[in-house]
This record gives sequence, structure tokens and C-alpha cells, in this order.
Amino acid sequence: TRCTLIGAPIQVGAGHLGCEMGPSALRTAGLRAALEELGYRVSDLGNVVPADIPDLRHPNGAVHHLADMAAWTELLAEVAYRESEGAMPIFLGGDHALSAGTVAGVARRAAEAGRPLFVLWLDAHTDFHTLETTQSGNLHGVPMAYFTGHEGFEGYLPPLAAPVDPARVCMIGIRSVDPAEREALARTAITVHDMRMIDEHGVGVLLRSFLEKVAAEDGMLHVSLDVDFLDPDIAPGVGTTVPGGATFREAHLVMEMLHDSGLVTSLDLVELNPFLDERGRTARLLVDLTGSLMGRRVLDRPTRSF
Ligand code: ARG
Ligand code: MN
Ligand code: MN
Ligand code: MN
Repeated sequence: TRCTLIGAPIQVGAGHLGCEMGPSALRTAGLRAALEELGYRVSDLGNVVPADIPDLRHPNGAVHHLADMAAWTELLAEVAYRESEGAMPIFLGGDHALSAGTVAGVARRAAEAGRPLFVLWLDAHTDFHTLETTQSGNLHGVPMAYFTGHEGFEGYLPPLAAPVDPARVCMIGIRSVDPAEREALARTAITVHDMRMIDEHGVGVLLRSFLEKVAAEDGMLHVSLDVDFLDPDIAPGVGTTVPGGATFREAHLVMEMLHDSGLVTSLDLVELNPFLDERGRTARLLVDLTGSLMGRRVLDRPTRSF
């Protein structure tokens, strides 16, 4: 059991600068040691950065840094494809635009292995804008539409080797959806669990039904954890806080169930903005949550009992 840390310090997809420091903060908070303590052999590839940025513009004048996102997407799709064989890649963000590349890359790996790729999106936001619909122009708001094969990215972001089937995507923690995203989501098979669903049913029930689908199809499972999934009271180090997020206990339960499922094959830790953090507490929380996802537990239980 090996895992690979890959820093992806993209920050121009977000509305505030600072995510560039995310990989450093996660390393400083002891991510590698936490994984080694759990018995993993860890290799840290350091940070990757795209070499050249193409010249790209989109008619939607709000869109900014599209060329940077295109270069990052191409680079990360390649890295994710390469590193998702034999070891579990953990991508240290960087803002959520990076998932356009990481998911595209692991989807290509899954397609080659003849297995379906599932995506668990833990976020306050659905990040389901297209280049036409985004009003902020912040491209961390578009990766979900891109990797599920929504039209409108042709000629801007790299063509997908294997789009993710929307029916294999589950979002949990949602509490901020723009009108255009809401309309577009109504026309897809993506499962969207907002905070009300968590309050009514409990996060464990929602997650279990998704994990049962993944297991039934022998899928690979990519988990994308946006810091703003968490309540801002426990995770202030992010530029897009939304009140009423997942609690400490809900978040750890999700991670523990994911571990017990044995299904997770890749992970993004995104949107950590150390410039907005309080003495490293959000970075440390992410390391602790990753520990739970990778097998840290309070008491022993039989495995695969999710
Ligand atoms: N929907 C908003 C926008 O497009 C917020 C996106 C926030 N995304 C994120 N990855 N934090 O600007
Ligand atoms: Mn800018
Ligand atoms: Mn996000
Ligand atoms: Mn978000």
C-alpha cells in the first residue's frame, strides 16, 4: 500500500489569491507523517507546475485565467493518469479548478482498466458552471461541468479521453448553487445532496447508498474534498466560506466510511487558503480527515462494514 503526494499549487481559479500555499501548508501540517504512521509507503513528488501557458480567450468577458486553467488541466490529467496505477495519488491543492485535470486523468485510467469511475464531490458548491454561464468568471466553479462532458469546453479545455457518467457522481454538503447551475443540474443524473438532506437523513445514510452503487459496479472512486464542505467555524482557511457546513463529526464519519468501503482510489484536497487560515488549524484538520480516510480509527471494527 503506497500513496503518492502531488502538489498542484493553482490559485487563479479562485476569487482570492493564496491557494498556491496550500500544498506547503498540508506538508507543514504533517500529511506525510500521518500517512506513514498508518503504515503507508509515501512518495512525495513535490509540486507540479505547467511549463507554458497558451493564449486563450472566451467571449464571456467575466472568464479570467482560462489559459492557465487549460495548461493546468492538461498537465494534471497526464500526471493523474500516470500516478493512478499501483499507488493512490493524493493531490494537494490548489483551488478546485485542478479537479478538471485530476478527474480527467483518473477517468482515463479507469476506462483503460475497464472499470467505471465514480466521483464523490464534498463541497458547499456544485461547481457546475460552463464558460458561458459563470458570472464570477472564477474557473474553480466549472470543473464538474467539464469532466462530466458538458458541451461548451471544446476548443478551450483539453478534449476528455473518458467523460465521467453523471449518474456516477454524488455531491454532498451543497448549500450554494447559482441559478444557472440549478437549471443545468435538473437536466442531469448527478445526485445532489444538500445540507437539508444531511439534516433529514444523516450523512451516513446518504453516503452508504452511494458506496453500495460503487461496490456493485466494481468502480474506482475519486474523492474531491473542498475545504468549504466543512463548516467555517472549524475550517476558516478558505476563500468561499458558506455557513452551515459539515461538522467535525460528520466529516470524520464520511472519511471513516470511505476507508471501510475500501473503494477510494484517488483524492483531491482543495481550496485550502493558508493566508486566510488561523494558525494552521484548517490545514491540520485536513490532515486529520485524510488520516481517517486512510484508516485511522478509534476502535477496531470489521473492515468493509460501511
Ligand atoms: N458558484 C460560485 C462561482 O461560480 C462559487 C464557486 C465556488 N467554487 C469553489 N470551488 N469553491 O463563482
Ligand atoms: Mn485574476
Ligand atoms: Mn469546489
Ligand atoms: Mn466550494
